[in-house]
Amino acid sequence: MADTKQNKRIFSGIQPSGNLTLGNYLGALKNFPLLQNDYECYYCVVDLHTLTVRQDPEALRERSYSLIALYLAAGLDPEKNVLFLQSHVPQHAELSWILGCYTYMGELNRMTQFKDKSSRHADNINGGLYTYPVLMAADILLYQTDAVPIGQDQKQHLELARNIAERFNKIYGDTFVVPEPFIPKTGARVMSLQDPTKKMSKSDDNANNFVLITEDEASIMKKFKRAVTDSGSEIIFDEENKPGISNLINIYASIKGISREDVEKEFAAARYGDFKMAVGTAVCETLAPIKARYEELMKDKQYLESILRKNGEKARTVAGETLKDVYRKVGFIV
Ligand code: TRP
Repeated sequence: MADTKQNKRIFSGIQPSGNLTLGNYLGALKNFPLLQNDYECYYCVVDLHTLTVRQDPEALRERSYSLIALYLAAGLDPEKNVLFLQSHVPQHAELSWILGCYTYMGELNRMTQFKDKSSRHADNINGGLYTYPVLMAADILLYQTDAVPIGQDQKQHLELARNIAERFNKIYGDTFVVPEPFIPKTGARVMSLQDPTKKMSKSDDNANNFVLITEDEASIMKKFKRAVTDSGSEIIFDEENKPGISNLINIYASIKGISREDVEKEFAAARYGDFKMAVGTAVCETLAPIKARYEELMKDKQYLESILRKNGEKARTVAGETLKDVYRKVGFIV
């Protein structure tokens, strides 16, 4: 296999949609400092992938900066983690071509996200949308990734990446690490504030469902005030019968670093309304410094670019080794 590494490697691909929610923060970003000591982490802003849906060039560029700034503001250490742009590492597109020749149409035809996106963008069902999972496989396999943090919606794509890796290894001998899904031990699952049976998502049509990391305080407080609660009046954790209150308990516990029982005790005598305000206040207190740092970073594009340049170089070195091994194996002159 191409390169050596000391720790297990994690690869995470993030679409530059710019906005991240409280759910992204509590579910993932907050735990970065814990991960970076046990794993080599690659955080890749997958700008190539976004072109499968029509983009406004200036807005895309701004969203890429914005995502990088948010990750840094949330505490990601750019010296200990490789935070980079997919377009800065040409090996992604190059390996993608090769892997495409080891992926069957039948496999791609089965991808549910392709079917779903084609029905939503019926006027632009392009080749990129169809081969998107191959590029994603290239992202992951280039770095000899051990584990990929993914949600339910990306499971099928990861499974395909595993199949492609195994197929290639079988023909040419060990070339790629076969990646596993990564389910973090810590990290809260934050649900929608209006419909606590589904996950908080920034692409939700109703903005009252989510809170953005960069949102202003008044707006955050308003959303918590409006958050749906359940029948009854007790603040107790019961996901089945009290999904709304349980979600708020999870959020508060995660922010304060305390257990659910502690939250129940603290608010044993409180009313729903008071509890909602307490959660909103805790959220604002946590997000305020991140927002301030984010705004500072966005004013300093040169700094952001210097990080991207440095990390892009690191990524290219690792990706280059894998690609060279692949080129040699398939019979190219390297
Ligand atoms: N397809 C992923 C999503 O939409 C993004 C992605 C691209 C990705 N490449 C990846 C995720 C590699 C994990 C690993 O969320």
